[in-house]
Amino acid sequence: MAEQMTEQMAKQTLLEAFNAASYPLTGSSRWNVNQLLEAFRSIDGEQDSDIYGNGAIIENFQAKIASYLGKPSAVFFPSGTMAQQIALRIWSDGAGNKKIAYHPLCHLEIHEQNGLHELHHLEPLLLADKSRTIGLEDIQQMTEKVSCILLELPQREIGGTLLPFSELEAISAYCRERGIKLHLDGARLFEVLPYYKKTAAEVCRLFDSVYVSFYKGLGGIAGAMLAGDESFTAESKVWKRRHGGDLISLYPYIISSDYYFEQRLPKMEQYYHAAIELAELYNSCQHIETRPEVPVSNMFHVHAAVPKERLEQLFKAVYAETGVGLTRYVREVDADNSYFEVSLGDRYLGTPKDKVREALGLLGAKLAELKQQ
Ligand SMILES: Cc1ncc(COP(=O)(O)O)c(C=O)c1O
Repeated sequence: MAEQMTEQMAKQTLLEAFNAASYPLTGSSRWNVNQLLEAFRSIDGEQDSDIYGNGAIIENFQAKIASYLGKPSAVFFPSGTMAQQIALRIWSDGAGNKKIAYHPLCHLEIHEQNGLHELHHLEPLLLADKSRTIGLEDIQQMTEKVSCILLELPQREIGGTLLPFSELEAISAYCRERGIKLHLDGARLFEVLPYYKKTAAEVCRLFDSVYVSFYKGLGGIAGAMLAGDESFTAESKVWKRRHGGDLISLYPYIISSDYYFEQRLPKMEQYYHAAIELAELYNSCQHIETRPEVPVSNMFHVHAAVPKERLEQLFKAVYAETGVGLTRYVREVDADNSYFEVSLGDRYLGTPKDKVREALGLLGAKLAELKQQ
């Protein structure tokens, strides 16, 4: 029987094992069609659809989020990829300068198939190195003139690290004095507000344009908002049309975005404290460290001095013994090291603490054994 289980476990992917776990810890829910069904459960079907960017459904939501972000205007986009390329294009056209600056690991640089260059012919200047966030000094030391700087809060690819708020204020003042536009990649802005102890508007005031996402910590289906002053958002609507982003109706995304915004925004503080708690448990395991060591949002990265395949086997055994699913995937860093991202939401809050401690305790024990073999 034990042998059969082991064989079955060996065939199962880590994702399958995670999905089969009674207590999957990351995210807010299973990524399936129920997300949409839940959001529509109490929706009045007699409401008119939005049509090509017009209508109460889209206009009211845009006005609501603009006000929340403290910006005069906002436009709903199907994706952040589209919204941010457009934002940078607008600032670059305005300054007559194709150079923009951002972090070497930002979404535009590593996940968008060079869209900014291929579609808009913009020329990125990479600031800071891959191991840390952009700081004021990086900006002061720029030798080339740029039209716009994009800052990502928190910097996702390095575990969700964040600049001190005072440094952000200094960067904003520096850029304003020099006529450099500052754009916020706020894909996870809601998630960092409890750490900053600031309102969204207090953070957004430091930026000329802001993008936020409705499917990261909020756990919606898809969708993004681009906010700024009226002339900026008016121009962004023209580009949205050019990009084919003006779907005749976007209401499935808008209604679900609004639903999860209401549901989960008030829980960001709890998600953040959950991340601190879980990171501490991971850090108590040998050969594991989280980055950042103490999270500043609901997310962090877990780095293990263990090869990917070995770590996957070990996780599957932990899931089978405890019913707790720790991660859906593990990525290889090199032959001896691996990592994965943890992003917490409703699922962690709904898991009994003793189950979490049991799983992390077992993981720690298995890691210790592994190294002694
Ligand atoms: C930091 C950051 N910016 C932008 C995006 C793009 O968002 P979208 O998937 O809506 O295009 C993502 C998506 O993962 C992201 O993590």
